[in-house]
This record gives sequence, structure tokens and C-alpha cells, in this order.
Amino acid sequence: MTKGKGQPQAYGDESYWNERYSQDVGSFDWYQTYANMAPLINMYIPKSDNVLMVGCGNAVISEEMINDGYETITNIDISQVVIDAMKEKYKNMPQLRYQRMDVRQLNYKAKEFDSVIDKGMLDSLMCGPSASTNVASMIKEIYRVLKPGGVYMLITYGDPRVRVPHLKSDKVPWDIKLHAIRYLQIFICIKLFSKVNRSMLFQQGLVLQRYMNPEHLDPLLNPYLLEKT
Ligand SMILES: C[S@@+](CC[C@H](N)C(=O)[O-])C[C@H]1O[C@@H](n2cnc3c(N)ncnc32)[C@H](O)[C@@H]1O
Repeated sequence: MTKGKGQPQAYGDESYWNERYSQDVGSFDWYQTYANMAPLINMYIPKSDNVLMVGCGNAVISEEMINDGYETITNIDISQVVIDAMKEKYKNMPQLRYQRMDVRQLNYKAKEFDSVIDKGMLDSLMCGPSASTNVASMIKEIYRVLKPGGVYMLITYGDPRVRVPHLKSDKVPWDIKLHAIRYLQIFICIKLFSKVNRSMLFQQGLVLQRYMNPEHLDPLLNPYLLEKT
């Protein structure tokens, strides 16, 4: 995981990100653009959802989702520097809320959000010290703030064999499905104990291939089902 500067070990470190965002005044989307991921996001996350974007950084994905019809997106990041910049940038876009918060300790009520998007957030913690402990705290918190039936969309460059053990636990039971766009993995984790069972959407996975830019797809990988109730 690299954007060309910085030590991987520093990606879990607040001071590293504050320093980086102090120098980097523009915007940057890690991994993929919204345009390339929109069919997948639209499939699993309805536009009326109350969405939480964790580790938002200075990415434009949230703005682009609002422009595409999403109604409310709460964005959090551990860096006060980037949160201040994003608040200023989007002061005239009330659908976007920005708050400085640590994903390992979310200051939200249980079941507050319909869906959570993580593009590079878990990967950052994986690159820092105490990765397993930090990721476990993060997953527990995301699970807590999701409504039953809610979706945690994890967009990661991590090998599924490395990521899945962090996602699977008796304490946080999910339905988990995996899509791939080239080497990028997109885990769809659905909180169980749901009245509305979104796992029926799993049946539609192959439909994605018709919508997505074929050059971004690996037909051998996309999609494969890891677990289903
Ligand atoms: C790889 S960047 C991804 C930024 C953005 N999501 C994107 O797709 O472009 C990871 C982000 O996670 C943030 N971050 C790191 N540790 C965090 C934590 N414990 N809680 C919340 N955000 C954190 C960093 O400040 C950084 O903005």
C-alpha cells in the first residue's frame, strides 16, 4: 500500500497523516474512482441510506456519491487537518458531514448507519503497529453502528486469505461476499440478524459483469462467494 511516499508502518499513525495532509492540499482518491466502483456501490448501498465513510481522507468519492443521488454521508478521519480542510471545502454541501474521529472508538449510537464504506482505512491500520488489535476494535465498532441488515463495504488491496480472518468472528457475524476489480478486493459484509435479508442480492453478483468496464474485471475472481447463510 503506497502512494509513492511515506513508510508503510506510519499509515496507522495520526501524526503521519496530519503531516501528510498539511503538505498535500489537493484531493486524492486511493485505489479507485467512484466512476469505476459506482455499479457495485449502487447495487449494495441504496441512495437513501445513512452512509458512514471511514478514513475519508481528502478523497472526492463522497462528493461524487452525493452528485449521483446519495442523500447523507457522514465522513470521519483521525486527522484534524484533513477534516478541517474538507469541512471548509464542502461548507455549501450540507449532505456531507465531516467529523474528526478514531474509527476504533466511534462516537455514534448503536445501529445509527445503514451502511459503512471503507476505502483504504483497514489497510492503513494493517500497516501500523498492533494491527490485529486495532483492526479488531475497528470491526467491532463498525458492526455496532450498523443496523441489522446493514452493509460494510471494505475496499482493500489485501489478500483475501489475510483479510478474511480479521472479518470473521463469532462476535461480529456477517454474510461475506467478495468481488474483485483487478487486484482490488471489495468485500461486502452484511450484518446478520436482519429482518430485510440483503443476501438475496448475492444471487445477482454476476449481473455486475454486464455493467462494469470489462477491462477492470477479472472474470475468474469476480465474484466469488466466501460465505452465505
Ligand atoms: C489510505 S488513506 C484512504 C483515504 C480515502 N478513504 C481514499 O479512499 O482516498 C487512509 C485514511 O485513514 C485515516 N486514518 C488512519 N487511521 C485512522 C483511524 N484510526 N481512524 C480514522 N481514520 C484513520 C488516515 O488519516 C487516512 O486519511
